[in-house]
Amino acid sequence: MTGKLLLATILCLMGGSALGDDVLEGTYNVTAFCTAVKTGTQLGSIESCQTYYVCTSTGPQKSSCQDGYSYDLAKSSCYPSSQVNCYWGLDNPCTGRDKVWVPNTSVCGGYYYCTEGTCSPAKKCATNQVFDSTTQACKWGSCNGADSTATEGTVLSTPCDVVPPGIWFGDTEACDIWYKCESSSTGVTLKNGVCGTAMPAFNPQAQNCGYKTAAICSRVTGNPISNVATSCTTADSKKADPLVCNQYSECVSGTWTKLACATGYYYDVNGKKCVLRQDATPVATCNRCLFAQTMFVNAVDSDNCSKYLYCPEKGDPTETPCPEDHYFNESLSGCAPDSGLKEYVGSNGACLGASVDGATTEADEATTADPKE
Ligand SMILES: *[C@@H]1O[C@H](CO)[C@@H](O)[C@H](O)[C@H]1NC(C)=O
Ligand SMILES: *[C@@H]1O[C@H](CO)[C@@H](O)[C@H](O)[C@H]1NC(C)=O
Ligand SMILES: *[C@@H]1O[C@H](CO)[C@@H](O)[C@H](O)[C@H]1NC(C)=O
Ligand SMILES: *[C@@H]1O[C@H](CO)[C@@H](O)[C@H](O)[C@H]1NC(C)=O
Repeated sequence: MTGKLLLATILCLMGGSALGDDVLEGTYNVTAFCTAVKTGTQLGSIESCQTYYVCTSTGPQKSSCQDGYSYDLAKSSCYPSSQVNCYWGLDNPCTGRDKVWVPNTSVCGGYYYCTEGTCSPAKKCATNQVFDSTTQACKWGSCNGADSTATEGTVLSTPCDVVPPGIWFGDTEACDIWYKCESSSTGVTLKNGVCGTAMPAFNPQAQNCGYKTAAICSRVTGNPISNVATSCTTADSKKADPLVCNQYSECVSGTWTKLACATGYYYDVNGKKCVLRQDATPVATCNRCLFAQTMFVNAVDSDNCSKYLYCPEKGDPTETPCPEDHYFNESLSGCAPDSGLKEYVGSNGACLGASVDGATTEADEATTADPKE
């Protein structure tokens, strides 16, 4: 009895995870990923190249390569660091490398050119492109919330950064969705699909679709496994990201695909497209500090345009209303008398529908109800 307890304690200390607590690396929920892959699968870390996780039946077990070695996700093994395409958490990603391009893992789409172990000044891929370290090139893709302006902490931008290529794995939002990271000469791409109605449950242990059972589908928690694509049915439909004003999802071939507007642009909920920040009416819950040139900005306020945000350099913005009979004028960076509101509303999408009387008239109630849908 005591022996077993001691063993369990040691395992806990070693793995930090044998029983109990979830293993998290920023937005990467290692525990959740382990429920979605076959037992025995090794997952990568996005905090350190030396670290990897073995998915046991009780959850992830943390392991480490010896010093000077890095975990090679594609080969599921440790190799001398200079031979491994891994850059997470490195102070100098160019160490031991010459005439190659390497990613700046702290910035989505960021990269460097290495010359005899020294990094070039930081460079960045164009908007809606990410850096692919396997092909050493920028390619079409989205940062999935790992936007350079919004990044604080560790953000997993694609499951293929941590799941080895060539295996099928499940989803934690729906039992019938499967994914696979496919490696080719153009880099690693995430494939996904949906099991048919006859065999509607993806079974990671068997690596195929099967009958639905509680055990097979127990990984489904309703939380997205990461910010990855999930299935959708309405062709051509789009939805705004509730938190990041320039992001939205579009239904492409049956899956929600994350997209981002260019720098300086927001996703407009009425036009359902990207428009200049000042003209856009973004979703009311998103943070208009993104791309702001000033520290005080309008909150989305279709009522009387009086709410504004203070955008600190770090941390969350705070919201305050202007005093009575005033609206917030972003170009003034302050509150102005309501006499100018009508003109202001015409050229500032954040206040679309706002009026001096606010929501006191029926007509205004109709306009305020509109963007919320
Ligand atoms: C991580 O995943 C586990 C298993 O799916 C889940 O129970 C837990 O709530 C998740 N934790 C977070 C912080 O999302
Ligand atoms: C690259 O990463 C560093 C932190 O390691 C960061 O300070 C820098 O801004 C990044 N480069 C770019 C182009 O943003
Ligand atoms: C704006 O509208 C809100 C809600 O109707 C109200 O509480 C607030 O006093 C109004 N502010 C101004 C400055 O008119
Ligand atoms: C407020 O902003 C507009 C630009 O949208 C500007 O033309 C106007 O002069 C500003 N000032 C006041 C007091 O309304």
